[in-house]
Amino acid sequence: MTVDSEYWSRYYEVTVERPAWQTVGIAIARFRAEDNAAAGSGRERRPHRERLAVDLGCGAGRDARELLRARWRVIAIDREPAALQVLAAAAGPDLGARLETRVEDLATVEIPPCDLVNASLCLPFLAPEPFAATWGRIVSALGPGARLSAMLFGDRDESASDPTMTCLPPEQIEAGLDGFEIEHWLVKEEETQTALGEPRHLHLIEVVARKIG
Ligand SMILES: C[S@@+](CC[C@H](N)C(=O)[O-])C[C@H]1O[C@@H](n2cnc3c(N)ncnc32)[C@H](O)[C@@H]1O
Repeated sequence: MTVDSEYWSRYYEVTVERPAWQTVGIAIARFRAEDNAAAGSGRERRPHRERLAVDLGCGAGRDARELLRARWRVIAIDREPAALQVLAAAAGPDLGARLETRVEDLATVEIPPCDLVNASLCLPFLAPEPFAATWGRIVSALGPGARLSAMLFGDRDESASDPTMTCLPPEQIEAGLDGFEIEHWLVKEEETQTALGEPRHLHLIEVVARKIG
């Protein structure tokens, strides 16, 4: 299987109508609960201040659009121009008003300070060195109270033998979250299918974590 621009374009066609992943939903719900609690206590005048998310490797934007529907501002980043075209078209002018798209490589992208970095099924496509550097930039972009929602591949994933990818033991991912409170953690290993219908051995790690220091 060759994962090239043509592969990703087919992936976007298939996934554009798919629902957002639960990781981003959990993160949105956690922020909403905090905003409601702050509004109730009178600490925050506006009940839902506009928050900023950076969606890395956004693809067709199933997570980005969920954030936009929840009235977040979103910077959506992908290396494939087709991803951002599909996302912008699906968002339309209404949701699109709070969307910024950037064609950039995750290996080098500057990540602005934000409330949430969302990274669903994209960071494993970086080789170990750029993965570590990008992870460091994600951690630096998040101040106290900000969150990371991510879907990563574990070391028993079928891509683990590919040197151009990064599939880590769950303990190593957890160690990379020093200074975070882990709010959601799910490790799943199963025979499944890709979005394009190919059989796949998946070792998936879902995480939502809140920066505490
Ligand atoms: C499996 S798709 C996931 C898309 C979306 N997050 C989702 O969950 O539907 C992986 C995405 O990561 C993007 N990607 C992979 N490597 C990248 C890189 N080095 N820089 C930017 N985007 C990258 C691909 O173009 C693709 O859109």
